[in-house]
Amino acid sequence: MSGNPARGTFDPIPSTRGRPTVRVATQLPPVAEAAALAVPVSEGGQPPADLGVDAAQLEVAGFAGKSSQTLVVPGADGRALVALGIGSGDTIDLATVRDLAADFARAVPQHKTLAVELPVGDLAISAADFAQVVVEGVLLARWRYFVGKGGDEPTLTSLTLVAPAAVADDVREGARRGEVVARAAAISRDLSNCPATTLTAARMAEVAQELAPGAGLEVEVFAEDQLIEMGCGGILGVNLGSVDEPRLIRLRYSPPDPTGRLALIGKGVMYDSGGISLKPADESHAQMKNDMTGAAAIMGAMTALGELGCSAAVTAYLCCTDNMPSGSAMKLGDVLTMRNGKTVEVLNTDAEGRLVMADGLCLATEEPVDAVVDIATLTGACLRTLGVEVAGVMGNSSHLIGQVEEAGGIADEPVWELPLYRPYRKQLDSSIADLTNMGGVNAGSITAALFLEEFVDAHPWAHIDIAGTAQQPAVRTWRNKGASGFGAKLLIELAMRFEVPEGDD
Ligand code: BES
Ligand code: MN
Ligand code: ZN
Repeated sequence: MSGNPARGTFDPIPSTRGRPTVRVATQLPPVAEAAALAVPVSEGGQPPADLGVDAAQLEVAGFAGKSSQTLVVPGADGRALVALGIGSGDTIDLATVRDLAADFARAVPQHKTLAVELPVGDLAISAADFAQVVVEGVLLARWRYFVGKGGDEPTLTSLTLVAPAAVADDVREGARRGEVVARAAAISRDLSNCPATTLTAARMAEVAQELAPGAGLEVEVFAEDQLIEMGCGGILGVNLGSVDEPRLIRLRYSPPDPTGRLALIGKGVMYDSGGISLKPADESHAQMKNDMTGAAAIMGAMTALGELGCSAAVTAYLCCTDNMPSGSAMKLGDVLTMRNGKTVEVLNTDAEGRLVMADGLCLATEEPVDAVVDIATLTGACLRTLGVEVAGVMGNSSHLIGQVEEAGGIADEPVWELPLYRPYRKQLDSSIADLTNMGGVNAGSITAALFLEEFVDAHPWAHIDIAGTAQQPAVRTWRNKGASGFGAKLLIELAMRFEVPEGDD
């Protein structure tokens, strides 16, 4: 990229360089290789003898073993032993293990070499899955985006999983999957946190071209001239006010004899100022560099499919431009002609996400495809409705929506269905065009989804609104504060388990 320091001289995906070593051992390595060890302690029970302190001593220190409670105990060998509360519940699920692993990693922030002993004996969770979520939890808790002094310093150099020899191979395979998933999520977070003047649509396309070969993906980038030829009036309309060109990025993952064909469409609004309908100078405006989290989540997820052996073919469309006010910007009352020929009267330039997504949805449904899933920071209304911990999902196929919900559960990136209440479609009626881009003041997430439905050509489709979950107000176990990259893990799980939806509507 150019050397203009105002555009930033740093890498848009810094955290993916210099990754920690993840290894599996059958016994605890020396302190030099693992300076901190997690020691799970249940509530009300005696801690394991290797902790070197008993329940009464732990109580003196205020540690009762409640879930996610941690206490660092200096070990006799110079190692930090982290008493990790696991509560008294008898069911430990994957999300809990991932959370506990993250709590451990955060309890000893100065320690760069960590070890976790996997439990022996019968567990509801397989050794491989256990290892996967431990690796995800630790690596994602130690992820950071910092491009200032010392930002290149790794926060973690090694993670050792200690497991009985009998399951070592399973653990190794699970740990490998965990690394792949954590890296995908890290790419999504990096891109979402990267400042908008650094990560323009053109730079986003370069990142896609850089990542694609290593991940076995085919990549094609469509620039402004091509988008004009293709009739992508939505992306071009939103881009009118910008000095930075738009890009449509198409990534293809094509395994031999695919078991299904899935299309993913991501909102890539590199910065959403609102355009002429300028946003107020509040906190949410300051977060709008993350308005490309949908595209970032897809980019991360796509890099993982080959390494995880996904059997479905997946094609991604990332619809990238910023949304800026200027003398050339889209005006209220303008009419855009979208890729499928439908005309849209623009009544609010801040309802830009649906405009860029419309073209992506049209392109995705022009070729044979079994299901279409889009992901977008689409509506402030979704943030108001569901808050920051759960994303909204709507669509025309309950089987597909069910698959999105299941994937969200496994990834611990939860979604909740909102109704695609079709009588509200009339709110989008225009007197001069096929539809407007603005519904009424209420049910904004639903009318936005109904707008998108106009462009899916009746294919099985689900829309994930991540406006709430794309930004986290505070650290929460493996989740970071700030732009979260929400959705990469969910999309991986969706693609891995994808089944051609049965017609139900
Ligand atoms: N990117 C925003 C949605 C958003 C808002 C995401 C707050 C995260 C936090 C989107 O482009 C937008 O501005 N939507 C408008 C739509 C309205 C003008 C119909 C909104 O939600 O206010
Ligand atoms: Mn907007
Ligand atoms: Zn937006």
